[in-house]
Amino acid sequence: MFKVFVTRQIPKEGIELLKKVCEVEVNEINRQLTKQELYEKIKDKDAVITQLADAVDKDFFDAADNLKIVANYAVGFNNIDLDYATKKRVFVTNTPDVLTLATAEHAWALLFACARRVVEADNFTRSLKWKGFEPMAFLGWQISDKTLGVIGAGRIGQAFAKMACGFNMKILYTANTPKPDFERQTNAKFVDLNTLLSDSDFVSIHTPLTPSTKHLIGKDQLALMKPSSILINTSRGSVINENTLIEALQNKQIYAAGLDVFENEPNIDSRLLQLDNVVLTPHIGSATLKTRTDMSILAAQNILDVIDNKIPKTLVNKDIFQYIEIK
Ligand code: DGY
Repeated sequence: MFKVFVTRQIPKEGIELLKKVCEVEVNEINRQLTKQELYEKIKDKDAVITQLADAVDKDFFDAADNLKIVANYAVGFNNIDLDYATKKRVFVTNTPDVLTLATAEHAWALLFACARRVVEADNFTRSLKWKGFEPMAFLGWQISDKTLGVIGAGRIGQAFAKMACGFNMKILYTANTPKPDFERQTNAKFVDLNTLLSDSDFVSIHTPLTPSTKHLIGKDQLALMKPSSILINTSRGSVINENTLIEALQNKQIYAAGLDVFENEPNIDSRLLQLDNVVLTPHIGSATLKTRTDMSILAAQNILDVIDNKIPKTLVNKDIFQYIEIK
């Protein structure tokens, strides 16, 4: 029987599908396993459902001689050494599409929270400091009629931009290539990164982390942004040079930032915790019940596809077919 290890608990729907045909072991400890614990668990497994915090590197693959598929429970796969997976003839899959709306909505939640100072105002109200309606208190920024900059117009970036349609916003975007359909649907304008940063009121990052997007936003880029601007990141922490962002927020060089992802997750730079002009969430972009359930089903489906000798539905390392044939 195909043996599957699941590195963290996930919604039961996917596990139940697998249990019909596989032997499934789930890490029931409510924490990430150490490397040694993980390697011990995967040594005889055919499939592993991994999390974005699992380092799926050379050591991981070398620890699992029977491995046929790594089903990453995330759309991002920067935690995986894809070249080595391919060399080892291991399929790598991710969970695109099913988390698009949830992640785009979370970017909006952060943008609204920053623009209307929701967290600061909540803290103020809870601490019983409110003495009555104050005409000059908690003045924030209107979102309607402003310019929205979308860095990375893939599935999530486009969904985020489309959600702006009720707010009559001008949309600027960057991408590897222009997206004519997206432009038709949203009137979005394809611009270079510098133009996007200097002309946008709100900037949201939706690009994957790759060698070319690491520290895409650093000192020079932040210097282009308006002092009234807000930066949102729900992609990967390292797309921003976090140290530089903290300095920009401390100096009020930009108005605020909404961050769901961090450079050294789960460690948060303590300087961020001191700032009023930042809203922090613990990498929960895809955290709705529906999305996480759909992610578990999709991860399971990819494993079932491999068992059935089919091409996994959301295969990432398509170059594996230079080594493997599927009829
Ligand atoms: C992903 O799937 O890559 C997200 O970051 C998870 O929320």
